Amino acid sequence: MKKLLCLVCVLCGLTTIQARQRQNFDADWLFLLGDSAQMSQVDYNDSHWRSLSVPHDWAIEGDFYVGNPSGAGGGALPGGVGWYRKHFAVSELAEERLFLEFDGVYMNATIYVNGQKVGNRPYGYSSFEYDITPYVRAGQNVVAVRVDNSDQPNSRWYSGCGIYRHVWLTQTHPIHVKHWGVYVHDGKVEVDYENPTNQKVTVKNTWLDANGKPASIKKPRKWSCEDPYIYKVRTRLLVAGKVVDEVETTTGFRDFKFDAKTGFWLNGKNFKLNGVCEHHDFGCLGAALNEDALHRKLSKLKAMGVNSIRSSHNPPAPELLNMCDTMGLIVMDESFDMWRRRKTQNDYARFFDEWHERDLSDLILRDRNHPSILMWSIGNEVLEQWSSAEADTLTLEQANLILNAGHDASTLAKEGELSVQSLLTQHLAEIVKRYDTSRPILAGCNEPSPNNHLFKSGAIDVIGFNYHHQWVKDVPQNFPGKPFIFSESVSALQTRGYYMMPSDSIFVAPKQWWLPYTDPTYMCSAYDNMHASWSSTHEETWDVVKHSPYVGGQYIWTGFDYLGEPTPYGFPARSSYFGIIDLAGFPKDSYYMYQSEWTQQPMLHLFPHWNWVPGDYIDMWCYYNNADEVELFINGESQGIRKKGPHDYHVWWRVTFDPGEVKAVSRKDGKVVCSQTIRTAGAPANIRLSKDYVGRETTFISVEVVDKDGNLCPWAEDQIHFISEGECTILATDNGNQTSMERMRVVATPNHPYPSAQRKAFFGKCLVVVKGHGSITAKSATLIPDVIEF
Ligand code: GAL
Repeated sequence: MKKLLCLVCVLCGLTTIQARQRQNFDADWLFLLGDSAQMSQVDYNDSHWRSLSVPHDWAIEGDFYVGNPSGAGGGALPGGVGWYRKHFAVSELAEERLFLEFDGVYMNATIYVNGQKVGNRPYGYSSFEYDITPYVRAGQNVVAVRVDNSDQPNSRWYSGCGIYRHVWLTQTHPIHVKHWGVYVHDGKVEVDYENPTNQKVTVKNTWLDANGKPASIKKPRKWSCEDPYIYKVRTRLLVAGKVVDEVETTTGFRDFKFDAKTGFWLNGKNFKLNGVCEHHDFGCLGAALNEDALHRKLSKLKAMGVNSIRSSHNPPAPELLNMCDTMGLIVMDESFDMWRRRKTQNDYARFFDEWHERDLSDLILRDRNHPSILMWSIGNEVLEQWSSAEADTLTLEQANLILNAGHDASTLAKEGELSVQSLLTQHLAEIVKRYDTSRPILAGCNEPSPNNHLFKSGAIDVIGFNYHHQWVKDVPQNFPGKPFIFSESVSALQTRGYYMMPSDSIFVAPKQWWLPYTDPTYMCSAYDNMHASWSSTHEETWDVVKHSPYVGGQYIWTGFDYLGEPTPYGFPARSSYFGIIDLAGFPKDSYYMYQSEWTQQPMLHLFPHWNWVPGDYIDMWCYYNNADEVELFINGESQGIRKKGPHDYHVWWRVTFDPGEVKAVSRKDGKVVCSQTIRTAGAPANIRLSKDYVGRETTFISVEVVDKDGNLCPWAEDQIHFISEGECTILATDNGNQTSMERMRVVATPNHPYPSAQRKAFFGKCLVVVKGHGSITAKSATLIPDVIEF
């Protein structure tokens, strides 16, 4: 009630304040997992509903279960229909307009205000806004949102369920800038506004520098990855000298091009796009947008040397784009994973005909001012690349596996023919160009032939294909004069902490998409020696990219592990093995390979651990940079010096395990650059807590099981229990294990006010995520506990 009054106070100003007021509308929603037509009604009794704030994802609160209709491919978490209701007060409106804006609801959201249907939006990744002025009245109002994620599977990865991004309430003067109505490009500003009474309106745009001070843009400071300098444009609408609306738009100046011979250029500098593909989930926090989790993600990727993100395979949260703008990360903004031909039974293909124009237009309108976005992708591996594609009849798991299986050449475009698929490609490109001509269009294609219907359309500006690194040498003659990037690459398979030897053998899993792959461990090797039949090791693709000047860069599948698509396994595996960083946010070893190649900071990474059976042959790998050589010592005895050749990305030794310590030392011109020592850990003795990432509200605490001397116990699997004290809540736990069935999100409800938070260590580590300020104690049956304050 207190909060409600507060809102009344804010809105009391409506009759007097003329200019725009945008307020966050995330707090004080009521939620119920269930469905009834009555739930839209004003007088529906929702007093027993759970009270929460959005962003919210109900699926992550559930249990992993083989019977959940999303399947392991969708994360094996629940779906269903859920309702959200929010009561809010509005004072008498004069002529003001009131808009309700959703950044994203997965999926099929139907919005009611005071029992009346305002609209429906099927695509779970689109942002949308309604003018609710005709539906509200002075006094109490209720908005009800029905979210329907019951028709499954509808996604090849974990989608999440609910109002999983922010909600906004905006009040404007009747004369106001339209939703996404400002377009800033090449130093010009176009403003689209509503003027229902045809008054004389003056539009005034002012350029502001990064500090919000008026700025000249004669010689603008450029936006780059190293110096992501942001300008803003303040747009004011004036009527008879009075400001009736004001909006600010973030923008930046940069010159870029994709060149057929030399690849990518930004502000006159030629470099590779060192990109990763990312799905939208935050592991144990689910799909619910959490800015701290997002910033942690991007910071870890940037520290690895990543300079670009592909929002695979859908419109991202606006906050991702804002952060990329300010962190200097280039974005490939992607629209769809399918067009008319579906990949899974209930996916977006069923809405495509009716909705694609609106969804694609809205994406461009919403995002076109972001300086970080340098290309639009109109689709990922859409089946329209061929004239026939049979994925419709496949299960979700099969669909994920068959995508790169190869297609009959007769399904490609014929000479001189402009097929329906090519026409559709042109149509989508035309929609993009209608709203923005300043960026190239591409599509993530897994058919590398120039007779791919999409390429044949002539509407693709930058050729992008996924995988097929063996085809890259043919790109210059297959696509003369066209620039090229790997829109998706690698798909190596790894479990953090697990190593399959001999490390110089490549394990392909599955060998062919139709062959099952089974292994009782449900793990994949964290040496870079395991990948799927269509993919490669990290080193293999990077070697092609690095040594082919015409390749503008690559987007590795993926930066972080994500929920769903546990190739090469099925349930109980329920999250991916593709990430360079595991689901809990702990880097796998390949992270350091990229760091050695993509960053200048001297580094060395030796692995695996040093806890084996005496006498075993162990392969020790080392990634390093800024040095000529590395020498390995076991218990002080040299195992030899190794140097990388121009196509090598690691050095390695096959040694006999002898407990004690293993040490690697890198040298340049005879001087030591870096060294690392790993000691054989004794019995697990203590828990060690440390802060992995401290956000504004959320802190990520890393939990390690160590021996009495502080060495990480690499095989430890202790069950760790967490107890919080102070003004804080435990949000979630994880350990990066793709098969763990432990519930991730910790939720207190009136029926269950003190849920326990626990997590098994996985290869010695796990994670606890907390909100607020206080302390966490971590305990186990046998280890000495640890406490940390935050
Ligand atoms: C690609 C696809 C991705 C993911 C990946 C796994 O074909 O675009 O979404 O499924 O394969 O290797």
